[in-house]
Amino acid sequence: MPKVLFVNACVRGEASRTLRLARVFLDALSAACPQVEIIHQDLTTMGLRSVDMDTLNRKEALCDQLAWDDPLFAPAVAFQQADAVVIAAPYWDMSFPSILKVWVENMYVRNLTFKYVNDQSVGLCRGKEAVYITTAGSPIGEHDWGTMYIRDVLKVLGIPGFAEVKAEALDLAGRDVEAIMAAAEAQAKQAAQQLAAQLA
Ligand SMILES: Cc1cc2nc3c(=O)[nH]c(=O)nc-3n(C[C@H](O)[C@H](O)[C@H](O)COP(=O)(O)O)c2cc1C
Repeated sequence: MPKVLFVNACVRGEASRTLRLARVFLDALSAACPQVEIIHQDLTTMGLRSVDMDTLNRKEALCDQLAWDDPLFAPAVAFQQADAVVIAAPYWDMSFPSILKVWVENMYVRNLTFKYVNDQSVGLCRGKEAVYITTAGSPIGEHDWGTMYIRDVLKVLGIPGFAEVKAEALDLAGRDVEAIMAAAEAQAKQAAQQLAAQLA
């Protein structure tokens, strides 16, 4: 049974248009691939902490011991074992809400999600596909730091496949928001079908 990790960084909860797109994506994925198991990580409620000095020291010691049963690593174990990762995050301040950066900090676990070989970092994640879903108030333009950063992080951790679903210019006066969202929902359904085919 393929496992898909859904990472929800939609801070506005039920009001979030990014979450709306993500749900369209996940529903289409479940319809196209009924055997898929979707594991939800809601970053707004799961209490992830940014890494301070004490946590860093403890984490490095646990990484040396391969102590993956420690609760500190539970989110990273789910990430490492997933067959695919779907991340939903609104476009905030030229990237995404800071809770997603905290998630990234928690996903970098030496000897679990990456290891060093001859001074080179090698990704250890099992999944090979990821989808990044975002919405923005204005056109994002070519320098989409949020998407580029997440794509590179996932690649370093061993997940090379990357698709994106985007709705832009949602907050500009005079825009037909529902038409933009409908186009993005069609994009989401297509991306879900592609992922379902890859997981089959
Ligand atoms: C704190 C904050 C920061 C934002 N920063 C940007 C930005 O840098 N560029 C942009 O185009 N829109 C920005 N927006 C607008 C959001 O990207 C837009 O409203 C998006 O659709 C919100 O997604 P949501 O409905 O999933 O919360 C920002 C909104 C908020 C609340």
